[in-house]
This record gives sequence, structure tokens and C-alpha cells, in this order.
Amino acid sequence: MGLKGVVRKLLESQGYRVELIQPEPENIYNQDGLRSIHNHDFMNDARFQSAYTRGMLASEKDYTWHWRVHVGLWAASVAAKLPGDFIECGVNRGFLSSAIMHDLNWDEFDKTFWLLDTFAGIDPRFVSDEEKTSGILERNEGEFYVGGVDIVRKNFSEWKNVQIVVGAIPETLAQVACDQVAYLHLDMNCAPPEVAAFEYFWPKLVPGGVVLLDDYAYRGYESQKAAMDRCAMAVGVRILSLPTGQGLMIKP
Ligand SMILES: C[S@@+](CC[C@H](N)C(=O)[O-])C[C@H]1O[C@@H](n2cnc3c(N)ncnc32)[C@H](O)[C@@H]1O
Repeated sequence: MGLKGVVRKLLESQGYRVELIQPEPENIYNQDGLRSIHNHDFMNDARFQSAYTRGMLASEKDYTWHWRVHVGLWAASVAAKLPGDFIECGVNRGFLSSAIMHDLNWDEFDKTFWLLDTFAGIDPRFVSDEEKTSGILERNEGEFYVGGVDIVRKNFSEWKNVQIVVGAIPETLAQVACDQVAYLHLDMNCAPPEVAAFEYFWPKLVPGGVVLLDDYAYRGYESQKAAMDRCAMAVGVRILSLPTGQGLMIKP
């Protein structure tokens, strides 16, 4: 028995209750609703840092989304090897898409990145009653959502193969002129347009194509999870729930 064990026994024999508290490891990931002692040395990787920095250039701030961006960059790297375009529904200032395009060196690919958004926040016509009751439209009033597309166009002018589609989903879906989709990111913070986009693009997704759901497991976005679970069940695929709050699907 070591010294700690001897001291513990001694204290316990005198009626003390002894709890051994493990010292916290120094390197803990603790942000964006996720606390983990697991390895996250991707944060020190120069390539990751460069992509993340390009995302911040678009958003003009650090959302502290590192692990989410790590997942997004990985998903995009898988999809980049497949035929088909990339689509993001819910772009805002373009944080994740900019990071991805920077990371992949987008103009080297013969693919279009379709970016769909109102660029004016959530459209109240396409929000469920449950979401309205939970105060989603009040959250729309804050400064998080970009108030116009000009600054977004300027951000993405760095790349050639980009199409920005302005307006509310589902109304704009038919403007996406592509038959094959390799990567679909749904990030609209409300269920009805995400369901519409999923149902529209799933048949166009190539085998092995990736669907990344930004809010699937995120606390406070339960109605999106319920809606996407129904979508997944309808196509016979399961969603991987990630501790980042994201969800991931692969088209068989
Ligand atoms: C959380 S933000 C997207 C964040 C973005 N993916 C990023 O990397 O920073 C959600 C976006 O969804 C958009 N949105 C919400 N409802 C929409 C709808 N029905 N049609 C199009 N865009 C919508 C909002 O305007 C907002 O920009």
C-alpha cells in the first residue's frame, strides 16, 4: 500500500470519509457545450488552424466551434473524393463553408458549392408551431444572423465555383441546378426547411455522400432532431449523434 493508501486508511479509521479527487488534466476541451479530456490535437494542426482562421475571417468572430469545424472539414474531405456538388442550407456569414473551401483549395475541384440562405435570418413562414412557442423568432432578433447578402458575396468572391442562392427554403430549392450531390450541410436552426431540403436533395445524393446536421443533438434544438429522425427512418438510414451537437448520415 502506498503512502496515499496508508493516510486514507488512517483517516477512515478515525471516521473521516475520504474521496480521492483526480487532478484535472491540463488539456481539456471545454467549449460549445462539449467538455472532454480526449485528444483534440487537431487544434494545433497548422492546416486546421489555417482553415479555422479563414472561417473566422468570414464570421468576423470566433464562435469557438473548433470540434464542429473539425467534423465539418472531415466530412467535406470525404465528400470531395466523390462525384457531385456541395450544398449548404443555412450559410449566414459563411463560417464553415469558408473554412472548408480554404481547406480543400476549392477552385482545384470541378464542383460547385451551392450556398442557400435568406441572408436575413429565419423566415417565420417556415417555422413549426413548436419552434415558435420555444421562442425561435425572438432569437432571430439578435445580431447573429447576417443582414444582407453583399458582405457574404464579398467573402466568397475568393473562389470561382460558388453559387449563392438568396431566399427562403423551400422556395429556392429548384434553383439548385445540380443532379449529383456529394455533401449536404443543413444548418437553418429550424425544422421545416431542413426537412424540405433533405427530402429534395437525398435522392440526388451519390452513394457515400455525406449529410451533416449542425443542430441534430444540440441542446435546445430537439424539434430538429425529432424531424430528422423521421426523415432518416423514411429512407432507412440511421443518424450518428455526435457530442459536438451535430448529426451525421452517409447515403448507402
Ligand atoms: C446558424 S446560421 C448558419 C450558420 C452557418 N452554417 C455558419 O457556418 O456560420 C442559420 C442560417 O439559416 C438561415 N435560414 C433560416 N431559415 C431559413 C430558410 N427557411 N431558408 C433559408 N435560410 C434560412 C438563416 O438566415 C441563418 O443565416
